[in-house]
Amino acid sequence: METKRILVTGASGFIGSNVCLALQDQGRQVIALDDFSVGIKENLREFEGRIIDSDIRNFDWSREKVDSIIHEGAITDTTVKDRDLMLAVNTEAFKKLVDHCENNKINLVYASSAAVYGRGKSPMTEEQEKDILSHYAESKWEMDKFATQKFQAFEGKGLKLVGLRYFNVCGPGEQHKGKMASMIWQLYLQMKQGNRPRVFKHGEQVRDHVYVKDVVNTTLLALNAKKNGVYNVGSGRGTSFNKIIEILNKSLGTNLEPEYINNPYAHYQDKTIADISNAKEQLGYEPAWSMETAIPDYLSWIKERGL
Ligand SMILES: NC(=O)c1ccc[n+]([C@@H]2O[C@H](COP(=O)([O-])OP(=O)(O)OC[C@H]3O[C@@H](n4cnc5c(N)ncnc54)[C@H](O)[C@@H]3O)[C@@H](O)[C@H]2O)c1
Repeated sequence: METKRILVTGASGFIGSNVCLALQDQGRQVIALDDFSVGIKENLREFEGRIIDSDIRNFDWSREKVDSIIHEGAITDTTVKDRDLMLAVNTEAFKKLVDHCENNKINLVYASSAAVYGRGKSPMTEEQEKDILSHYAESKWEMDKFATQKFQAFEGKGLKLVGLRYFNVCGPGEQHKGKMASMIWQLYLQMKQGNRPRVFKHGEQVRDHVYVKDVVNTTLLALNAKKNGVYNVGSGRGTSFNKIIEILNKSLGTNLEPEYINNPYAHYQDKTIADISNAKEQLGYEPAWSMETAIPDYLSWIKERGL
């Protein structure tokens, strides 16, 4: 189904802004919504559509007549200690949005997170046991549980309701996230200063790093999902921090040895890798980027922006 008008929440954030620009490139009519609590106007500087400055907790969704909503807006700082706030912004606002979409025949694609798997075994499958280690992870898991009860009802109305469990996303537009930005950005910042990149001993922890261009692509594919559901969105491959440093060294023309530091965290994940077979089957997702190709692409964007 071809979507005509699309509203994107979290539109000035990292993933949301990339989604807005990709939709604009496809010639879609896009409305951007964000409260600019974290996201920045700079991320939307090439966006030509309308921008609404509003909080998702009290926005009157019926104000905008749209066919689809891509919901990226959320508290994304995983260390936030205020549980009530986390659940109000991430879960409660989402529940109201789901109800609105169901009652007004609107497709809804929303961002969940791989955080729900915690220290679970890899490759991580959608059905495996959850390991909820933070209020953030809880808020996303509550979203998924609520959505799961609604899949059939949406299906019955010919509507999409799709959750996407993004893994470790990196790429252009994440700079405003500070300590919450990807390890690739953090390591780049250190190495650009000529400093040795600092990682926990001994850099062999593996993450499913996924380039934002693949994430955007899957998010748009989700609007035409064969089946409503919650899907993993990663690269399907694990890359160690040592390997990331090696790729950064190669791309930057440096030769900086990692500095291994003690890990203060008791609950640190050694390995996260997404099983993406469901996303391949139901969304038609095929990752186009590896870290070997994504990092040089990202670095050329960084250079262009003088960052
Ligand atoms: N980046 C990742 O690696 C990653 C991984 C898993 C899941 N996610 C999810 O993807 C989505 C996008 O994340 P991101 O990385 O772009 O983070 P981000 O922080 O850059 O984007 C979130 C946006 O939501 C906005 N926002 C926050 N509270 C709001 C409110 N009350 N009303 C309106 N807008 C509000 C912020 O201003 C920000 O622009 C989030 O739902 C996040 O949980 C991201």
